[in-house]
Amino acid sequence: MTKLWGGRFAKPTAELVRQFNDSLRFDLRLYNEDIDGSKAWATAHVATGVLTADEAVTIHHGLEQVRAEIASGTFTVAAGDEDVHTAVERRLTELVGSVGGKLHTGRSRNDQVATDFRLWTKRACGDVLAHLRTLQHALITHAEAHAAVPLPGYTHLQHAQPVTWGHWLLSHFWPLVRDAQRFEQALAQADESPLGAGALAGTAFPIDRAALAAELGFGRASPNSLDAVSSRDFAADFLYASAMLGLHLSRLAEQLILFSTTEFGFVRLDDAYSTGSSLMPQKKNPDTLELTRGKSGRLLGHLLALLTTLKGLPSSYDKDLQEDKEPVFDAYDNLLIILPVMSGVIETLTIRPERMAAQLEPNLLATDLADYLVKRGLPFREAHHAVGEVVQLGEQTNTPITELSTAALQAIHPLFGADVAEVLTVEYALAQRRATGGTAPEAVAEQLAAAKKLLGSA
Ligand code: ARG
Repeated sequence: MTKLWGGRFAKPTAELVRQFNDSLRFDLRLYNEDIDGSKAWATAHVATGVLTADEAVTIHHGLEQVRAEIASGTFTVAAGDEDVHTAVERRLTELVGSVGGKLHTGRSRNDQVATDFRLWTKRACGDVLAHLRTLQHALITHAEAHAAVPLPGYTHLQHAQPVTWGHWLLSHFWPLVRDAQRFEQALAQADESPLGAGALAGTAFPIDRAALAAELGFGRASPNSLDAVSSRDFAADFLYASAMLGLHLSRLAEQLILFSTTEFGFVRLDDAYSTGSSLMPQKKNPDTLELTRGKSGRLLGHLLALLTTLKGLPSSYDKDLQEDKEPVFDAYDNLLIILPVMSGVIETLTIRPERMAAQLEPNLLATDLADYLVKRGLPFREAHHAVGEVVQLGEQTNTPITELSTAALQAIHPLFGADVAEVLTVEYALAQRRATGGTAPEAVAEQLAAAKKLLGSA
């Protein structure tokens, strides 16, 4: 089988070069989009007079047959099938005869691949968004079920102030809302049809590009042929959205790994979502979470790889652009397993409120003790200093600050009263933070309602 572009060559391509150049092994997965694009192109050529209506029907039928062969695994690759575009056209021509050779009129693989890849990326964004929604739903359900369970909140991974499990878990919901917006943005960027841009300078046939774009479900046709075959901004947008999502899931995974350690013991992973050790019989390892954390590395890397490929390119199409697909495919494939795994982890996660309660030591309430003095008129800076002394006294006398006598407190500052004990409870500390986004039961309820509304599940 001769190559589609073999006419001007006196020698065959070296085998090594063929292997280096070919992309069929990874771009065959664009076959549906390639066939959809070709069918629309054939339809557009009825209007230009290049194809008769009958010829377009013949081409459509042939393309559907190629689709069925690839889908069923009966398609055989021939020598000379460089990429999905050449493979589909070669097989079409075998099936329908020389009319198949009319299909490529006024078109180039340059506008073809950009079209296919945009169509694919649009669908990929939709798939990721659907899985993301499921995970968001799992987070909301779990957060609601344990909305008021108190645990220590951390800064610098040191005890800071009490929070609740529902509040903490929702802190991992909101980043995913922003991730969803980024995927929607990537979808909107991909929603532009390059078809009809030709190799670089446009097509010499009177194609109605707007109608063609609409036929393929694109929102618009690209306004400049050079930019149309050159731009992979939409792929970079997809990879940025993937990198940020990977990063967020990695942080959630990291914290759940920490919380599942013997030392913390705040959560238990379900047996179905953990794995064992081949040597140590007692082990239950959070491999699901570790892989989520680990795979974020490649998600970040793919973004950098594509940006680096793009940065030095002269205008229009360069073969470097063939490097655009594998990072995007790999990011997609990984997200489509990471997301359902994380949903399963959250849906089956058990929390251990007694272990959280055991860590609720009185120093977590030091800020509330300072606020107590502020409410009695003391400037916050002075209150902060006084409570610092209280904490020091507690440490020196090995007494929790909640058990220091009123007299001992008053010796540090006269504004301390006998009612301090009322303030120094976790419930009180949580309940004080009523402002939007805080830990008070009504604020958490408000947050849950907002999260549900956003997901359309309220
Ligand atoms: N396989 C190529 C790619 O992925 C298709 C476009 C090739 N165009 C060309 N003029 N060689 O980018």
